Amino acid sequence: MSNTMCKAAEIADGIYAVGATDANETRFHGYHVNRGVTYNAYLIKGNNGKFTLVDTVRKEQSEQLVSKIRSVTDPKNIEAVIINHTEPDHSGAFPEIMKLCDPAVYATAAAAKFLKNMFGADASTVKNGDQVSIGGRTYVFAATPMVHWPDNMVTYLPSEKILFSNDAFGQHYASKEVFDTLSDVNVALEEATHYFANIVMPYRAQAAKAVQAVKTLKLDMIAPSHGTIWTEHIPDILKLYDALCSGQGSDATLVYDSMWGGTAQRADEALAELGKRYQSIKSFDLRNAHMSDVMAALSASKHVCIGSPTYNSRPTPRISTLLAEIEALAPPLKEYSIFGTFGWGGGASKKISEKLDALGLEKTFDLTRIS
Ligand code: FEO
Repeated sequence: MSNTMCKAAEIADGIYAVGATDANETRFHGYHVNRGVTYNAYLIKGNNGKFTLVDTVRKEQSEQLVSKIRSVTDPKNIEAVIINHTEPDHSGAFPEIMKLCDPAVYATAAAAKFLKNMFGADASTVKNGDQVSIGGRTYVFAATPMVHWPDNMVTYLPSEKILFSNDAFGQHYASKEVFDTLSDVNVALEEATHYFANIVMPYRAQAAKAVQAVKTLKLDMIAPSHGTIWTEHIPDILKLYDALCSGQGSDATLVYDSMWGGTAQRADEALAELGKRYQSIKSFDLRNAHMSDVMAALSASKHVCIGSPTYNSRPTPRISTLLAEIEALAPPLKEYSIFGTFGWGGGASKKISEKLDALGLEKTFDLTRIS
């Protein structure tokens, strides 16, 4: 990619977005994404003319990061690197950056340990509430453990009222624009839900605490490490996180698989039964739908209705994966229902019930029958 295509965007006076965009990427963290991926990083000019880099990007995107940094300054002028989180989408380019400059590195104790393990690098450790002056600017660090790794923190720049929130409030949305005001905010909020459901949802209690802490800050910008930068729509993304972190769902989601079409034919019957109880119902045929989209719907659901034929005395592999994802990502489900078909022995309904009962959900109906 040429340097002319990799120009940093100045998001505030002396503060630049230097991250990478991959509009063609369809996978992230092992799951499907619909609108590409961004790995945001930020370069901040100090009063001394030196620079601080907040986060890096995925290793494969190192060239784009370095190119954007060069559009602002020679990388050797970077005097500090703040690592909010060491997952490879943010730390992958760290070794490349360290070849180009000799900065002080700031990270939580957990992140410092991971940097040592991953790259043999040394970092100064910071704790929740620590303030550090770099190049005449004050940075405030807030630890956000398990949102969604033990090493997570966010970095606040009080002078500009900017929160560099890393994964929190992020979205997979490779918009050409960096700000919410210039992007489609409804898409950004939809993708923030998708991101939350597939990454943050199991840790919503910890995320809820972080959201309450964020609400105490004076904010002009929330600059996450994925997707659009929140400005005018900060109240909207905070409201969305409040809802997603609440553990309360009010919708229903119907998900089914089918081998010969029998279970698919029964989906309308199950939908009609659900319609007596729920106003908002989303439906997915796993023969075509992406599991990550199902999990986004489940993030606002109280009820999951699962349809499966019996496959060797058990649910189909796709439904078994759904059950594993429900266990791993812990959507706020309270009840479930089942439908499906079998030819001789049955068994899918029993296995689905066993799994969801064990997760504490209440069964409401079972429309499984011989085909
Ligand atoms: Fe965007 Fe947890 O990495």
